[in-house]
Amino acid sequence: MSKLRIGILGCGKMGKVYAHWFSRHPHTQVVAFYNRTYSRAKDLAEKYPGSRAMSSWQELTEDPGVDIIAICTPSHEHLQQFTAAVRSGKHVLCEKPMARNAEECRQICEVAAASSVKVAVGFQMRFHSVIQKVDELLPRIGEIFHLDFVFGMYRPEVTWRHQSLQGGGVLMELGSHLIDLAIHWAGDISALSAQNRIISAPREVEDYSVNLLEFSSGAMGYLSCNYFDRRSRAIFGNLIGTTGQISWQFSSYDPQDSGVSLYTDSGKEEVLLDMPSENDIDLVYPGHLNSFGREIDHFVDCILNDKEPLAGPVEGRKAIEVIDASYRSTKQCQRIELPA
Ligand SMILES: NC(=O)c1ccc[n+]([C@@H]2O[C@H](COP(=O)([O-])OP(=O)(O)OC[C@H]3O[C@@H](n4cnc5c(N)ncnc54)[C@H](OP(=O)(O)O)[C@@H]3O)[C@@H](O)[C@H]2O)c1
Repeated sequence: MSKLRIGILGCGKMGKVYAHWFSRHPHTQVVAFYNRTYSRAKDLAEKYPGSRAMSSWQELTEDPGVDIIAICTPSHEHLQQFTAAVRSGKHVLCEKPMARNAEECRQICEVAAASSVKVAVGFQMRFHSVIQKVDELLPRIGEIFHLDFVFGMYRPEVTWRHQSLQGGGVLMELGSHLIDLAIHWAGDISALSAQNRIISAPREVEDYSVNLLEFSSGAMGYLSCNYFDRRSRAIFGNLIGTTGQISWQFSSYDPQDSGVSLYTDSGKEEVLLDMPSENDIDLVYPGHLNSFGREIDHFVDCILNDKEPLAGPVEGRKAIEVIDASYRSTKQCQRIELPA
């Protein structure tokens, strides 16, 4: 069977992560790279025999020698690159946030729905051992009525991520993962009240975000993210249901931060995680274990066996609609109902 040929747009951290995992997959081969600064695409192409660097992203999206495009560029580029790739008949794995706002997501969903290619959004946390263990334990806690999730990192620098061109800040970058998980476990969000603030002045978009969520199910919860947490680079979650509670955590950088606790009327139960071997731990984000590899396995399986990706454009759009509502809530100082 011939291998699916991969083109990667964007050769920063995520471009490297995808190049690594796609090159390990038995049914895929990395063949092309594009990066705004050409030398970085060239450096990466030299690491992967049989691949080449291209001087424009359009050249890559139109190349008949490419079957799958991984979009690892900043969010202001996603709409153009995503729609061009799908219109050229390529399968697309696009990094989160899928786009900058709900209108851009609507356009992406329209183009995706009109095509027969597979499209997925990079909510890789769904494939993390911790998250998959929570999925498995969920029936033990009954009906969820409360959740609280926090994602904090200490990032004092100011980069492209903090420019208004991106459409948003930490809520898009870190919070989009938490919103996706919240919807995955507790269902659609029906209203929210939020405050998004810029603490570090040179930044043009929020670097501190607090959101009070109401779900269609009647559950409530809060979700917070920031770039100032000096304790660790950790992601914490807590789900409380009518018959129990699940508390979970992991971080981007340390596999040892992974853990899940289950509490029921019988007390706290020890939960064992399905941890990958050392060779299967991501080199850029070790705390994410092998979630990127599993995400890619799932995406390739969807292509080869005509299945729908767990996190596709609809899931990508839902997260951005919540983020849009959060920004509106801050601006108007009021509770916002969803859908808009
Ligand atoms: N799923 C996850 O867990 C996860 C984790 C991290 C990031 N991400 C997402 O992956 C995407 C890429 O993030 P990253 O961490 O790989 O970023 P990064 O390491 O900072 O690399 C940034 C990339 O964007 C390019 N770039 C920067 N500013 C640009 C501009 N104004 N116009 C065009 N290109 C520009 C850079 O090109 P130059 O080399 O020319 O500067 C480089 O290719 C983002 O959507 C991010 O949210 C996802």
